[in-house]
Amino acid sequence: MFAALICLVFTAGDGTPSPAFSQEEWAIVQSLSPAVLLPDTTNAFEQNGDAASLGQAIFFDERFSSNKEVSCATCHEPKKYFTDGLAVAVGTGQTTRNSPTVLNAAHQRWFFWDGRADTLWGQAIQTMEHPAEMDFPREQIISTIAQDEQLTAGWNVSFGKLDLDDIDGNSAKLAKALASYITKLDATEAPFDAFVAGDKDAISDSAQRGLQFFIGDGGCLRCHFGPWFSDGAFHSVGIAPLEGGPLKDAGRAGAIDKLKTAQFTAGGEHSDDPAGIRATISKHIAKRREDWGSFRTPSLRNVEKTAPFMHAGQLATLEDVVEHYSTLENFVSADHHRETILEPLNMNDQQKLDLIAFLESLTAPLPDKKLLTAPE
Ligand code: HEC
Ligand code: HEC
Repeated sequence: MFAALICLVFTAGDGTPSPAFSQEEWAIVQSLSPAVLLPDTTNAFEQNGDAASLGQAIFFDERFSSNKEVSCATCHEPKKYFTDGLAVAVGTGQTTRNSPTVLNAAHQRWFFWDGRADTLWGQAIQTMEHPAEMDFPREQIISTIAQDEQLTAGWNVSFGKLDLDDIDGNSAKLAKALASYITKLDATEAPFDAFVAGDKDAISDSAQRGLQFFIGDGGCLRCHFGPWFSDGAFHSVGIAPLEGGPLKDAGRAGAIDKLKTAQFTAGGEHSDDPAGIRATISKHIAKRREDWGSFRTPSLRNVEKTAPFMHAGQLATLEDVVEHYSTLENFVSADHHRETILEPLNMNDQQKLDLIAFLESLTAPLPDKKLLTAPE
């Protein structure tokens, strides 16, 4: 018996035995993989290859901005896992939020940090017209396409002949083409997924201990659950504004009215499934007191590659994020309404390293390189 014990300690390599998962824990682990996208029925062009190519061309094209220097890829750079590495994004002006990745973005229920769009395609025109992002009105978007032979050809095969009078209808189609491209940006085959599928050596012992902490004592699973590591809902984890002081960004609370008056929505006239489930959920959305200062739980897939973190890039590294959850030292609460489920975790150094090793095991390779530049 003694020998067996020594042997166990020895094989773990770094002095700590690798954890054995109980049956209950393993059932939870299996609920975290594989990640499979569901179709978005509000976008009839989602699986249209021609529309995706058109969307891909526009994604990398700086002509769709007022200063001709900004494309979607300026803030969603492929080699940075479709983020920009900045705390808050800079386009034609200075924005106030961090650029999230668009990898795997199609899985979301709500889009943007505050969820003010209820479909993936509902996002694009808002961004292009935003004075600080691309500052490019829809009339100019459509005329830019009409003046370019290749883009017009791409348009015609995707949607039929470009009708210059229908500016709003065309804007919705262009947004759907961009969404169709983004839907192809899948990065879900991480070492963690190989581990869940049965390759016990796919992730290190340290990462396995981190996983056990994540689903157990860490309590992370209460918000970061399922194959996308997100409940798709909105919470405050007490992150102070970049410049310090009280919270200023209303987050989810500011999004509900915008969602109700937005033009390109799941239930709107440009949707391909206006009576579907997405539209129904949006119709019944109501403001809640705890929405103020809350943000969408981000997916943790590929999180190692998308620093800095949080809605305004307030935390520079994963170490900082783990430190935050461990101490809650700089916790800033909105309206005295602190999420009661967050308690300081008081982690030791090994636990911190393990948790980070686990988060790093969620990094998948980038999608096929044909998707990482404008189409040839
Ligand atoms: C100036 C930088 C910038 C540019 C240019 C830009 N984005 Fe973004 N993008 C952001 C920021 C910042 C957010 C988050 C905004 C928020 O939450 O309020 C975002 C959010 C998104 C989201 C939502 C992701 C999610 O998980 O909710 C998608 C999709 C997206 N952008 C796609 C695009 C596309 C397509 C374009 C080009 C038409 C584009 N972006 C151009 C900075 C940019
Ligand atoms: C109460 C729900 C909740 C719990 C519990 C929770 N998180 Fe989060 N997490 C969030 C929300 C919401 C954000 C974004 C907050 C913001 O931007 O202000 C976030 C952000 C993050 C980020 C940054 C991701 C990014 O792309 O910026 C990481 C990493 C993270 N959480 C890991 C964890 C870990 C590890 C645990 C357990 C120790 C945990 N979270 C527990 C809700 C939660």
